[in-house]
Amino acid sequence: MSQFKAYTVWDASVRWFHWINVLCVLGLIAIGIALLNDSALGVSNNGKVLLKTVHVWIGYVFALNLLWRLVWAFVGGVHSRWSAILPVGHGYLRETASYISDLRAGRQRQYLGHNPLGRIAVTLLLLLLLTQATTGLILAGTDLFYPPIGSRIASWVAAPGIDPTTLVPYAATMYAKDAYAAMRSFREPVVAIHHYGFYALIFLGLIHIMAVVATELREGGTLVSAMFTGT
Ligand code: HEM
Ligand code: HEM
Repeated sequence: MSQFKAYTVWDASVRWFHWINVLCVLGLIAIGIALLNDSALGVSNNGKVLLKTVHVWIGYVFALNLLWRLVWAFVGGVHSRWSAILPVGHGYLRETASYISDLRAGRQRQYLGHNPLGRIAVTLLLLLLLTQATTGLILAGTDLFYPPIGSRIASWVAAPGIDPTTLVPYAATMYAKDAYAAMRSFREPVVAIHHYGFYALIFLGLIHIMAVVATELREGGTLVSAMFTGT
């Protein structure tokens, strides 16, 4: 008889969310790196628009997937809910203190769902993903005139006599100069946040992967495979 018992933890929604998210984030990071190095790579303006367009389409999948996860945290199973994610709530501090002292003493303590430190990490990750999604959607509107805000931005910057629905990126003659300059300064801080968010996400993502692997090795649980099988 097996001495291990299988517990169902992650429902299908969370598992699908997780791996779709990982694929999208890797794709967005790869294209983001190309965008940051466009001159070094000798990318033409058309090439940049293409890179941005692909980045934005992956971004839509990423944002919808994230939105679904955030909704699921209100309606999903016990381990998927905000009450299991956010590092707050009844007894959280006590639980964290005893988890840390057990870690220090080398005692094992296993959790179904997130452990207390995992909850901090997951909350930060979700916040950062939400920041990238929000700033990215604004950039898509202010750069490519793509939804959800692109049509409003186009009406804002179109030169007199130019139909806003016909605006394309990098077409200076189609824009009203002052309005375009104002729009560029509106988006400046958004680009900065998107940019720093990218570095923060790489950093936190690496820590997340190292923490997950370390926890699996130390506790001998099946943390990583649980994200595939749910148990
Ligand atoms: C191959 C690499 C990865 C592995 C093996 C992995 C594994 C895991 C595991 C085992 C959990 C559950 C952790 C827990 O019990 O507290 C988890 C949760 C999570 N991971 Fe990853 N992960 C990987 C990459 C990533 C990346 C790149 C991101 C995003 C940048 C990410 C975002 C998340 C999020 C947001 C959660 C919380 C899931 C939820 O409750 O919705 N993961 N991951
Ligand atoms: C994990 C999520 C994401 C990462 C890591 C990421 C990363 C990046 C990076 C590194 C750049 C280049 C920044 C620069 O030129 O200064 C960039 C640009 C851009 N991103 Fe993202 N991005 C993410 C999500 C999104 C989403 C969801 C969208 C929209 C749906 C989006 C839309 C854009 C646009 C339009 C640009 C071009 C901005 C410009 O240079 O004018 N991104 N992204």
